[in-house]
Amino acid sequence: MGWKYSACLIFSVKGMAGISSRSSNPDERSRTRRFFNLVSVIYPFIERNLTPAYRTALEKLDLTTGLSVMDLATGTGILAGVFAERGHPTTGMDFAANLLDRARRKFPAVTFREMDLVELDGIRDRSFGIISMGYFLHGVDAEFRKEVLTEAARIASDYVVVFDYGRPGNFVVRFIEWVEGPHYPAYLAASREAEFREAGLEIVEDFPTSDFGQVWVCRHLPAPSVCQ
Ligand SMILES: C[S@@+](CC[C@H](N)C(=O)[O-])C[C@H]1O[C@@H](n2cnc3c(N)ncnc32)[C@H](O)[C@@H]1O
Repeated sequence: MGWKYSACLIFSVKGMAGISSRSSNPDERSRTRRFFNLVSVIYPFIERNLTPAYRTALEKLDLTTGLSVMDLATGTGILAGVFAERGHPTTGMDFAANLLDRARRKFPAVTFREMDLVELDGIRDRSFGIISMGYFLHGVDAEFRKEVLTEAARIASDYVVVFDYGRPGNFVVRFIEWVEGPHYPAYLAASREAEFREAGLEIVEDFPTSDFGQVWVCRHLPAPSVCQ
């Protein structure tokens, strides 16, 4: 593929995505869905880079395998697949059908559901042991991050496990994120700890997973004590 063709493809995809500033906005969500369905062809490259990092991090965390997992914004299911290979009963959800088709082919042990994250309110309180998400938060605005983290805290009985950028990436990462949409700089500038706290979560463990990646393991904040 020549560089002119590649540049044209990238700018067309960015143009079609045409992402504005509110991820909880229905127009932006439908552009995001179109964007991820269009870029499904580059996922093998992303998977080669992220899968070993997910695997190493989950080995280190060694969470009880009896805990069921719901992986939000699962994409092609690589994080869900690593939880499943460790023995967790695992479900993945996403709204991009092309990515889910690949996920179903690659990880038959995982149940995949096509669903928009704005519909999380239909899932019962504490119905999964672990709610996870990989590289979702940086792509949406602060309001939607808060909404999804609050729902994750409500649905998880034990842990919310978040993988995402912990620091700015190199020029390739910055270019990819520029193509994806406008939220990455504001995401990096915001405090993860404060955002988790606002959602009722506290960080119990976190560490880097790569030059730019980080994992945060969160539990529910203790209920405030009632003074007599
Ligand atoms: C950068 S990809 C990460 C995919 C996967 N978690 C991974 O680690 O490879 C972000 C994913 O979020 C999904 N997504 C974004 N907004 C969503 C929404 N409102 N509902 C469901 N999925 C959404 C996209 O379809 C895409 O698969």
